[in-house]
Amino acid sequence: MIRVSDYERVVFFTGAGMSVESGVPTYRGPGGVWKEYDYEAYACQPAFDRDPTNVWEFHNYRRGLVGACAANRGHQLVAAAAEQVSVTVVTQNIDGLHQLAGTQEVIELHGSLWRVRCDACGAREEDREAPKAVLRCACGAWWRPDIVWFGDALDDASIAGAVSSIGACDLLVSIGTSAVVYPAAQLPLIAREAGAKLLEINPEPTPMSAIYDECMRGTATEMLEALCR
Ligand code: OAD
Repeated sequence: MIRVSDYERVVFFTGAGMSVESGVPTYRGPGGVWKEYDYEAYACQPAFDRDPTNVWEFHNYRRGLVGACAANRGHQLVAAAAEQVSVTVVTQNIDGLHQLAGTQEVIELHGSLWRVRCDACGAREEDREAPKAVLRCACGAWWRPDIVWFGDALDDASIAGAVSSIGACDLLVSIGTSAVVYPAAQLPLIAREAGAKLLEINPEPTPMSAIYDECMRGTATEMLEALCR
């Protein structure tokens, strides 16, 4: 039985399943975001270039939904683990719930729902306004949600941070990701190659399950209670 306190440097690699118990929908499961909304209309650069108002309606709807959700017991257990061991969260989530729970070291691979950027002048801003009222930067161009949409490259600094923390950890715990979105899905392989222990927490098997030393089949909160006790 793996216990977080038996290790020194732990990376929690999280996906949408981490926030299910907060009420945030996943992307691909039943009721998943991409089951209901076509990403080609709402979550890619060509859609934004075509119709920024439509893309903002979707993101403001998500700001409202996610903004009403609190961090759950699982997020709190991850934050509390930092009192015992060095903890880095590498997350695919854009909801900011790890930070709300108090985790200091969070690498957001896919950006943040709470940050906007201006591709015309390079400005960036953070706020939790829902809906976001002012959709244009002071320079006059549209604010764009600072999220890695389909077809976008990941931010170099986030990837570098993720590779370095994953390469240096002695325990990697993957939680609630379907492991089908690349390059994120292959990052746990770096921990494997570096000789770390690998644990997957997910009610369902994933295409990457075979690389893990152990798989705990259950919800994030339930399994984290056992892992962090
Ligand atoms: P998915 O929606 O693809 O997968 C969610 C995973 O969570 C599934 O494997 C479920 O079995 C698991 N799950 C469901 N309930 C759970 C629970 N209570 N506890 C633990 N696990 C649970 O979400 P991601 O893998 O995060 O990108 O998706 C990856 C990326 O695809 C996202 O970051 C997003 C999306 O397109 C962007 O938005 C940029």
